[in-house]
Amino acid sequence: MADVFTIGLGHNSPEIRKNANFDFISFWNEQAKNLSWFSPWTTTLDWNPPFARWFVDGTINASYNTLDIHQAIKSEKTAIFWEGEDGTSRKITYGYLFAEVQKFSNVLKSLGVKKGDRVTIYLPMVPEIVIAMLGCARIGAIHTVVFSGFSATSIQDRINDSKSKIVITADGGYRRGKIIKLKQTIDDAINGLDFVEHVIVLERTKTPIHLTSKDKLWNDVMKNVSSICTAEPLPSDHPLFILYTSGTTGKPKGVLHGTGGYLTHLFSTFKWAFDIKDSDVFFCTADIGWVTGHSYVVYAPLLHGATQIMYEGAPDFPDASRIWNILQKYGVTIFYTTPTALRMFMKFGDDIPNSFELSSLRLLGTVGEPINPEVWKWYFKIIGKKQCPIIDTWWQTETGGMLISPLPGLETIPLKPGSGTLPIPGVDISVVDEFGKDVPANTKGYLVIKNPWPGMLLTLWGDDEKYKTVYWSKYKNSYYPGDYALKDEDGYLWLLGRADDVLKIAGHRIGTAELESCMVSNDDVAESAVCGIPDDVKGEAIIAFVVLKNDVTTTTVDLEKQLITKIRNDVGAIASPKQIYFVSKLPKTRSGKIMRRLLKSIANNEKIGDVSTLEDGTAVTEIQNVFDDIQKTIQKKSI
Ligand code: WTA
Repeated sequence: MADVFTIGLGHNSPEIRKNANFDFISFWNEQAKNLSWFSPWTTTLDWNPPFARWFVDGTINASYNTLDIHQAIKSEKTAIFWEGEDGTSRKITYGYLFAEVQKFSNVLKSLGVKKGDRVTIYLPMVPEIVIAMLGCARIGAIHTVVFSGFSATSIQDRINDSKSKIVITADGGYRRGKIIKLKQTIDDAINGLDFVEHVIVLERTKTPIHLTSKDKLWNDVMKNVSSICTAEPLPSDHPLFILYTSGTTGKPKGVLHGTGGYLTHLFSTFKWAFDIKDSDVFFCTADIGWVTGHSYVVYAPLLHGATQIMYEGAPDFPDASRIWNILQKYGVTIFYTTPTALRMFMKFGDDIPNSFELSSLRLLGTVGEPINPEVWKWYFKIIGKKQCPIIDTWWQTETGGMLISPLPGLETIPLKPGSGTLPIPGVDISVVDEFGKDVPANTKGYLVIKNPWPGMLLTLWGDDEKYKTVYWSKYKNSYYPGDYALKDEDGYLWLLGRADDVLKIAGHRIGTAELESCMVSNDDVAESAVCGIPDDVKGEAIIAFVVLKNDVTTTTVDLEKQLITKIRNDVGAIASPKQIYFVSKLPKTRSGKIMRRLLKSIANNEKIGDVSTLEDGTAVTEIQNVFDDIQKTIQKKSI
């Protein structure tokens, strides 16, 4: 029997859930009316499976809904309290943001950016990233933000795929007191990409940079430009952004989101999940380079005219008290973070958060990976002082916004540590077996979504076929997110991790195929297989198995270094394997497929299932031996 905590915020509107589940189309039709539309829609949902168009014929603008609508009464209100890693801070009001965004839209226009053009944004967590995104949205340009920890090769792939003609970056960004040279990375990334016409460079760190004829400094271009730019009325399904994410193939997929449906989803979930009020101070620790930052740092809080904190740096820099310091300094009321961050804070000990005044908090949230019940309870007791509901929110880059979460702004339900509880109203979610049949209660199966929802992706950029195969081919008429789950006797959903070859490292999505293709590009490597092993803090850590070619003379110590450097250069530091194991063969089926399931089982100390299809049983024994060695090393280290 799981622990249960019933702690609410005084809301109870069962009719919303009832109406939504009775007729989800009429329900979302009502929700969309919370936004400002230039012209109304004629059809709520045009569902041509698996392509959904929400609010057909309606015209809308994301920048208008996050800025213009607040000017009459909130232009002096703080939109963002920005906290630099170096201790500097800035206060960004709705009025300032409005003017700067319009200026930036005019800059983009003056550089020839038109509706539908793509703009790549590679910036650290500074307010200008929000200005750049909303500046694009205002004129209908499609932003594609790339996390500033990605390497030149990763960015090049993304710029190339999206064919962005403008790139926005900074001279550098701060990370744990060091300067990361972002402009230099962009120089390498756009080398040979002639279609990139201009690079706009924000000077954040004042680190020396080399300017080319394509480069323009942010401050220069913003100097003599008008601060008036009318928001363009755009069709509801006009693409707002592309966000690349890892999947099971070697290449990241460009998840394409629209405007009207996406904003409706965010407006509603932000209200229901976070119970947002005008007086709240909201703090989401996600980097804008990931979907949580897009949806719940940029769009949702600004749609509501909320005040939020944006923090530039690492959560434990300069020391383990940094985040609690920020919470206390600004009187944060709603805090949204990841299980990885919580596991790290928990390790630092209770004395640190206990020495801060955190009584302003009224609601806590997590996202990105399963949260262990003991971490949930720690969060509840030590951070929330047993006064704050915790929302464990499940969703994906593709879903646009939350789909499973407690909703204290709507209803008070018992919370179970480790469970995302129920789907949001209007979304039909099941747990099924291989054949699509519902599994009995408390049985592990595959999560599926059975009806369209407004925040869902439009498609994959330039690849409708891949969109169909990746998400809609495993089950007829259901969206397959690639997660394991179970439903308990109360209908609560428990998310049990990825069912495919995607890893979640510190909440970041990394595709095993991407790493494997990077490793086999080394001349000495014949084959490689990557999988995750449990990690106390990051949830999962990457380990790799490598089979070398026969005539290799390089030592494995050197090769390990080479391979790690290659991954850091081609993908980014977040994808560095914790350990590389050199083995003579990999476990494969008779048809030649690597049995990753088996590697995962061995790695996770689980029972090895049916191996009758294995080509050669010795590979299992060999890998099992390698693993026994790892276990011993881990034990030795902890003694
Ligand atoms: C995982 C992040 C358990 C899941 C918003 C999903 C979670 C993937 C949770 C999407 C949660 C996200 N509990 N697992 N509350 N939230 N996940 O695209 O495996 O970076 O498929 O979006 O994260 O990761 P993405």
